[in-house]
Amino acid sequence: MDSEHIRQWPIGVFDSGIGGLTVVRELFRQLPHEGIVYFGDTARVPYGSKSEETVKKFALQDARFLVEQQVKLIVVACNTVSANSMGLLHSQIELPIEGVIEPGARAAVAATRNGRVGIIGTDSTIYSRAYEKAIRAIDKKIQIFAKSCPLFVPLAEEGWIDDPVTAQVAERYLSPMCRCQIDTLVLGCTHYPLLKELIQKVMGSDVSLVDSARATAACVKEVLGRKNLISDLNESPKHNFFVTDMPRRFLEIGERFLGSKMAEVVRVNID
Ligand code: DGL
Repeated sequence: MDSEHIRQWPIGVFDSGIGGLTVVRELFRQLPHEGIVYFGDTARVPYGSKSEETVKKFALQDARFLVEQQVKLIVVACNTVSANSMGLLHSQIELPIEGVIEPGARAAVAATRNGRVGIIGTDSTIYSRAYEKAIRAIDKKIQIFAKSCPLFVPLAEEGWIDDPVTAQVAERYLSPMCRCQIDTLVLGCTHYPLLKELIQKVMGSDVSLVDSARATAACVKEVLGRKNLISDLNESPKHNFFVTDMPRRFLEIGERFLGSKMAEVVRVNID
């Protein structure tokens, strides 16, 4: 198949559920002419509290679903999957695949001035130390301070963005981090961009927040450009959303993550 034809294929994006829509939102912004096929494994979410072995098994099934949809590149929007399964996915899937960890790590290295970087994410992401390894591979002098913040996920889904309960949770998770004199904090989970304002307030305005979703969309744009795969269709692109559980909740909550309406969400079975 020649690249002129493949160029018009959509980008595939997958996540454990709804959170990856924050990455799609950035793709819409940075690559407005690209079609997107989104897959959210809503029947098996969360991945962030599951073992590496289970996450890997799910990741491979999710990616294979997207391969069947004829996509030109796969974006692993889920930080937990990106932290655990990129090696496996690269070895099993014959398509370009981009995760969120490497772009987030590069953005953190570019942002820090004092060499002290904080990472927040799910249990599984923090336990994997994937961000730490990716940052240190670029600059081994950087000191890392990591903390898992699992309650941010349900609070963001509940829509408790500007809420005293979420503010209290944020204080509790982040005040030890405030004492570490970091100047950069990586939002290492799909859901955390929704809580950006609150996190910024707790950390103080001197700390730069690195949004992995934004950094990943920029990286996808760069990769597609390099491979000569940027769509040149003039009509508005089509977007398709697939989930493994009932679409209703995904539709209701998802629009907040995506920042725009979804025409249709289709339930599929990938077992
Ligand atoms: N998408 C996950 C992540 O970015 C958060 C939700 C989950 O635990 O599955 O790590």
